[in-house]
Amino acid sequence: MASPTRSPAAPTEIADLARSARRVVVLTGAGMSAESGLPTFREAQQGLWAKYDPMTLASPDAFRAEPDVVWAWYAWRREMIQQARPNAGHLALARWAELAEVEIVTQNVDDLHERAGSEVLAQLHGSIRALRCFDCARPYTDPIDWPTGQVERLPPPRCPACDGAIRPGIVWFDEPLPTHDLARAEAASLAADLMLVVGTSGLVYPAAGLPVTARYSGVPVVEINPVETSLSEHLTHRWRVTAAQGLPALVDVVAGGS
Ligand code: OAD
Repeated sequence: MASPTRSPAAPTEIADLARSARRVVVLTGAGMSAESGLPTFREAQQGLWAKYDPMTLASPDAFRAEPDVVWAWYAWRREMIQQARPNAGHLALARWAELAEVEIVTQNVDDLHERAGSEVLAQLHGSIRALRCFDCARPYTDPIDWPTGQVERLPPPRCPACDGAIRPGIVWFDEPLPTHDLARAEAASLAADLMLVVGTSGLVYPAAGLPVTARYSGVPVVEINPVETSLSEHLTHRWRVTAAQGLPALVDVVAGGS
C-alpha cells in the first residue's frame, strides 16, 4: 500500500549521508508497519482487545495463566498481518538493497520486509509464524484451522511429541533475545557507515541500545519517526516523517532521481 501523500524531500544532511553510504543498517519497529494498517504496540487495541494491555498478554506468565486468551490474541494479530501488505517504506528498503548493502534488523514479528523483497539480517523479537511447543520447544508445523475475526478464547494446539501447548515464536517480556540475531545486529550496527532507526519508540532493550552504541562508536544514526522518542536525543539526526513517506524520498536520492 503506497502512502497517498506526496513524500517530503529528504533534509540535505540526511540525503548526503544516504547518498554516500555503502553499508546501511536499518533498525525497524512497529511504526514501520503502521502504514500497512498494523497498529503499533503501544497504541490502543481494537475491538474486544481494547480492554487488554498488550504488555500483560506478551509474557510467559500470561501464557501459563491464560493460554486460550493469549493464543486468541495472537490468532487475531496473525490474521491482521496476513491481510496487510508491505507499504511504500518496506518497498523502498528493498529497492535500496539493489543500490547499496542494506541490512535490516527488525523488532517486528510480521513478515512485511520479506514480502517486500528484502532479506532480514536479524529478527530480534522472533516471528509470529514460527510456532513451537511451550514445554519442549519443538517447532510445530501441522496445519491449523485459524478462526476469522476476533475471538476472546482459543485453545492452542497441542505438541504431538509432549502434549505441551503451542506458542508463537515471539520473544516475550522476560525472555532472552535470539543470541545469533542479536550478535549479527550488533556487528552490523558497528560496521555500518549509516544507521537508520525507523518507527520504534526505543523503549525495549537490548534492541534500543543498538543505535546508541553505534552512534557513540562514530556511526551517523538517523531517526525516522513522526514524533520525538526516548532515543531522539542520543542520535545524530532526526527526521520527523513517516516511514512510507521518508524512505521512498531517501531512496530516490540514492538512486539519483532527486
Ligand atoms: P512501539 O509501538 O513502542 O512504537 C512505535 C513507534 O513508531 C512510535 O515511536 C511511533 O511514533 C512510531 N510511528 C508510528 N507511526 C509511524 C509511521 N507511520 N512511520 C514511522 N514511525 C511511526 O513499537 P516498537 O518500538 O516496535 O516487543 O516496540 C518495541 C517492542 O515493544 C516490540 O517489538 C514489542 C513491544 O514489546 C515484543 O513483542 C517482544
